[in-house]
Amino acid sequence: MINYTEKIPNNVDLGRDRVLQRALEHWQPAFLGWWFDMGPSESRNYDVYLRTAISVEPDGWAQFDYVKMPDYRWGIFLQPRDEKRQVNFGTHQGQPAWQEVPGEYRSTLRRIIVTQGDTEPASVEQQKMLGLSCPSLYDLRNIFQVNVEEGRHLWAMVYLLHRYFGRDGREEAEALLARRSGDTDNPRILGAFNEPTPDWLAFYMFTFFTDRDGKFQLCALAESGFDPLSRTCRFMLTEEAHHMFVGETGVSRIIQRTCEVMRENKVEDPSDVRALGVIDLQTIQKYLNFHYSVTLDLYGSDVSSNAANYFTSGLKGRFRETKLEDDHVLIDSNYPVSEVVGDKIVKKDVPALTALNERLRDDYIDEIADGVSRWQRVIDQAGIPFHLTLPHKGFHREIGNFAGHFISPDGEVLTEQGWKKHEFEWLPSSKDYEFVQSLMSGRVAEPGKFANWIAPPMRGINNKPLDFEYVRFN
Ligand SMILES: [Fe+2]
Ligand SMILES: [Fe+2]
Repeated sequence: MINYTEKIPNNVDLGRDRVLQRALEHWQPAFLGWWFDMGPSESRNYDVYLRTAISVEPDGWAQFDYVKMPDYRWGIFLQPRDEKRQVNFGTHQGQPAWQEVPGEYRSTLRRIIVTQGDTEPASVEQQKMLGLSCPSLYDLRNIFQVNVEEGRHLWAMVYLLHRYFGRDGREEAEALLARRSGDTDNPRILGAFNEPTPDWLAFYMFTFFTDRDGKFQLCALAESGFDPLSRTCRFMLTEEAHHMFVGETGVSRIIQRTCEVMRENKVEDPSDVRALGVIDLQTIQKYLNFHYSVTLDLYGSDVSSNAANYFTSGLKGRFRETKLEDDHVLIDSNYPVSEVVGDKIVKKDVPALTALNERLRDDYIDEIADGVSRWQRVIDQAGIPFHLTLPHKGFHREIGNFAGHFISPDGEVLTEQGWKKHEFEWLPSSKDYEFVQSLMSGRVAEPGKFANWIAPPMRGINNKPLDFEYVRFN
């Protein structure tokens, strides 16, 4: 028997919900089995200075302490219910928000929840080996924090499956532990979550670009007319912010360190920069191109009848739906999408309802552009004449209107041959990966020390100093 309130912090009255208890009693050991197999390598005995979500109070939700990760208290939290909440868009606009799953949308909703849930364990699997080459204890603690919280996000989705979808839900919850990132027979559902994350630059890019896709998907689901999904996603967003912080500051610190070394030694040529043991800006640009383009694919086809259905049914809204000033039905409006016609990229208007994937992708791109300009500021402040750019939306895409086309980073339509000639000027080659990994051959584990290729952060976690022992290896 599990003592629920002790072991699983929650605000869903788990202690009195027998059906949910039975489902979780079965699933929880399987989850731990998955964590031992696929969670961070060799980490089970470490004491890690982690935050644990213990309530939904805005200023008291997180508790910081040393925890062994298998003992992390993965909790279940929903933002408190607003009794007056309504369905805010689509054909059911104005009805009270649904507290139970509407029968007609049962399988669609289940699919949406499973697709979101599948990304959570996937990223833990992708990051499994990185702890062995961490640049500092601070960074090691941060990756572990991201990993346990992705674990909790899996719990959040499994809670919904167990509580609202009966037997089908329980089966889906099992399947979430059975798929594996990158596996040929039983891969994770979405492409970017099957790509390897082979080094720390890739990890920071992933948390900047791909966790931010997570944020935008959660924001769209937080608008859902299915209230328990909305409330679950709202709470997940509080944790997601830290993941993107880790990514943005991680890349920024790498750029900062590279610029320092370039300036001190008055070098600009990438091979001279590499010889000094830091990552050249050209390679950083290639990683950016890769992670940006594979993440753009996660939003799906530019024109999609599924997206239209999700919206019309009230299941998945737009980014900041309730702040938008229109009819929230979108029957009469249009939205521009891009298309390749001959050797040109042209815009054309399509019914807005069918373009909701593209619209969410555009909202995402706006936010990404802001982050990249903050990275650029670090380069500018160092007085180095290098410009980081976001490649064209159509570059290196496999889903949607650009799939099958060969678009350069500046948006030129090329032939396959023409594109291939430049591929490794734009995307990391195996040599680039080899170089980056050569810098990360072992872990830096002395408190307060940082690897040569990354600058220390501005401040520590939870007001602790930078030389705090964030992880104890035992
Ligand atoms: Fe997540
Ligand atoms: Fe995340």
